[in-house]
Formats: sequence, C-alpha cells, structure tokens
Amino acid sequence: MIKPRVQTKNPIPLYQPLPIADPIAQSDSPQPRRVYIETYGCQMNVSDSELMTGVLTRSGHRIANRIEDADVILLNTCAIRENAETKVINRLTQLSHRKRKQEDLILGVCGCMAQHLRTKLVEAAPYVDLVMGPDAYRDLPRAINSVASGDPFINLKLDKTEDYADIAPIRKDGLRAWLTIQRGCDKMCTFCIVPFVRGRERSIPLPILVDDVKRLVDEGFKEIVLLGQTVNSYNDGKHDFGGLLYAVGDVDGIERVRFTSPHPSDASGGMIDAMANCAQVCKHIHLPLQSGSTRILKKMHRTYTAEEYRTLIATMRERVPNLAISTDIIVGFCGETEQDFAETCDLMSEIRYDSAFTFKYSPREGTLAHRSLEDDVSEKEKGKRLRTVIELQEKISHEINQESVGKTVEVLVEGESRRQSDNYQGKTDNFKTTVFPKENAVVGDLVKVAIESASAHTLVGRITV
Ligand code: 5AD
Repeated sequence: MIKPRVQTKNPIPLYQPLPIADPIAQSDSPQPRRVYIETYGCQMNVSDSELMTGVLTRSGHRIANRIEDADVILLNTCAIRENAETKVINRLTQLSHRKRKQEDLILGVCGCMAQHLRTKLVEAAPYVDLVMGPDAYRDLPRAINSVASGDPFINLKLDKTEDYADIAPIRKDGLRAWLTIQRGCDKMCTFCIVPFVRGRERSIPLPILVDDVKRLVDEGFKEIVLLGQTVNSYNDGKHDFGGLLYAVGDVDGIERVRFTSPHPSDASGGMIDAMANCAQVCKHIHLPLQSGSTRILKKMHRTYTAEEYRTLIATMRERVPNLAISTDIIVGFCGETEQDFAETCDLMSEIRYDSAFTFKYSPREGTLAHRSLEDDVSEKEKGKRLRTVIELQEKISHEINQESVGKTVEVLVEGESRRQSDNYQGKTDNFKTTVFPKENAVVGDLVKVAIESASAHTLVGRITV
C-alpha cells in the first residue's frame, strides 16, 4: 500500500492542533520557533534541508530566511572530506559567540557530519544543543522541544526503512527541483564515508515519485533532478532506474529530467535506452571515474576496471549522440604511483570529459581505506597531481566548448546572470552554462541561443529564432 505524501505546500497555520496519526513526531507543547537551516555539501543535503523544512513547517515552526531572525539554527552538514568538516567546526565557533549573547538560541548540527563524529562533536563543541543524523528528521519537532525544556537532544539512529516517502519537502519556488528517489548506499567504496553516515540503500516507490513529479510540474518546475547516492541502482522491488526515467519523462508538462550520481557498475541497458529515446531526459551524464588505474580502482572497491569503464563510455556515446559526460576524480589515493596517476590523466585525455570535479584523497575515519590502507602520497604530491588534472581538464573543457561556437543551442532561461544584470543565464540540455542578453525572453522560457564565444566553463551568445 502506498501512503500518500502529506501536503505541505500550504502549511498548517500556527497553533492549529495536528491530526493524531501524524507521521512527524510531535512536541508536547509546540512553541513556534523561527528556524534557519544552513546547508553544506551535496544536492542530497539541499534536498534533505527541504525535507526538514517540510517537517518543521508542518509541526508549526516557521523558517527564517535570515540567520539574524532565527531562534533555532540548524547546520545540515557534509562529511565527505576533512575540509567539509573543518568548515562546519569553524562555523560552529563563530555561532558559539552568538549563542553567548542570545541565551535561548538553539544550535543544532544535522546530517552526515553529525552522524560521522557522533559524541565527538559534542566534546568538540559542547554548546551544541541538538545532534541529529540523516534518518532522524521526523524527530526535529521533538528535538526542539526537548532542548527548549533544557535537555540536549541526540538522535543518531540509522533506520534502514526510513525513506520519508510520506513527507512532502518544501522547496523554494524555481525551475529546477531536486527529488530524492533513493537514500543510503550499498557500494562500500573503501574511501567513502557515505554508507556509514547514510546507512543502507532504499528506494522510494515509483508511483509516489511520479505523483511528486506531477505536483512539481503543477507548481511550475520545469526540470527535475533525480537524486541518489548511486541513483541508477534505484529499484523499488517492481521498477528499475530505466523504468523510472521513462515514467518521469512521460509526465505531462515536464521539460527536462536529469539525475545524479550514477555508478558505472549499475549503468543498465534500460538507463541508456531511456537516455537515448526519451526526449525529456537530458543528454548529460555525471559518471564518476575516481581513477584511471585498474589497480587503484580495485583498492577503492569500485567494482569496475578502467577497460570496462572505457567500454561503457563508448556504448553510451554510440547510443546517445552528443552526450555530454562529466566525472569525479580522486588523486593521491593510498598507494597511487606516478604510473597509476599517469593512467588517470591518459584516460581523461582519451574520454575528454566536458567537465570534472577533482579531489585530493582525504582519509575518513571509519572507512576501510582508513583502517587498512596507508595514506602514503604526500600532501605536496597530492597538490601537484590535483593541479595537473585541473589544468588538463580546463584545457579539454575549453576545447570542447569552442566546438559550440557558431552553433545554436537550446537553453532554459534560469535567471539573471550573476555578473551582468542585462544578461540571462541558463543551461543547455547537456548542462553547459550559457549567458546571453535578455532581449524579450522571460525566466522559464526555452530559447535558442547562437553561440559566439566560449570559455572552459561558459558559452556566450545571443537569442536567435
Ligand atoms: N576523499 C576525497 N574525495 C572523496 N570523494 C568521496 N570520498 C572522498 C574522500 N575520502 C569524492 C568522490 C565522490 C565525490 C562525491 O567525492 O570523487 O564521487
């Protein structure tokens, strides 16, 4: 039986008693608070913050748009690399000064870093009142109430059945909506903290997701981004990821469907078919490679070889013409030799990604790599390798974007350009940022833009007919 989502677009007014069988944990005497959520890390966290907004609003609290107005501050955090955690620790130090001045301020740390550091977090920042992992957000109202009555609140239980499928997130209006289709991860890459902080993989049933997409289209969203840690391993027991792409692409009025991030080992024929055949599914895939050396991929437990990855790319390019491909690369993983690193650079040069996110390996306590492999590439060498891949990718991205000059691309007008207010910016189907004079277009239009120049990151042109 599929439970309908609780509608939160029109939040229940303050003080109105809530239905008894409410799926969100209630506080005993809900005193409405103004909650400011600060989000760190990936789109999954952005989506979780929207879920938290849904939970809080529904239980009578209000969202503060400015941190100055808040009496509850929640940091929704990331644990993927050490610097993500350092950033939050520094932010907490700043906020501790404010807490000294505003005694009843409630300060909470939610999400992956909370789950990762557990009680160590409270030892490092004893002024934190509320610590909550990604599977505990139903408890937010109860947590706020508990802290308000003097008891710090910690809930770090991972729950392999929690998918929040019955709770509707509250999003800011816009054109692009993030939609979580799967939570957790079963892959166990040796470098990665995600399975430890987000638990086992679970998929939200397809009919619920299709209903969500219909509602999002009704609300004015034009583009849906399906989110999951290994999004293409989606399986609700009846449907796989290819089936979901077709079903979502079929929703009346949807302009674009994207997804992130797929895992190469889960790239099924069904997914590729849907990308090839369904006009609404964008011709762009973000397919993390991590390393071009099969020896390193094995140490990472990535479950594919460089050769298999290369074959997959060739198959996808054959089936999906003009496919744009981006990736994630880690340099300086345990035992990465000059030769291994050269293989990464060679594969990047051969595949010619449209863009890449590149990272220095950062050991994460709790992972297999941290426990059993030596972090033996020096910081200096990691830095050098990182600069090399960034430079290589910039050159390739620049060359690829030059190929668009003189061509016409279709762009979804997303808003004013950050740099120039007489320009709009938007994305092409294959995820290239494009900037052009506004003329008579309005946000939300799909316009044709003739490209006149290009850099590694942006296409620049004019609207044409
Ligand atoms: N160190 C560096 N990069 C990492 N990533 C994940 N874990 C680590 C780590 N411990 C990168 C991977 C992943 C992206 C989201 O972050 O490239 O695809």
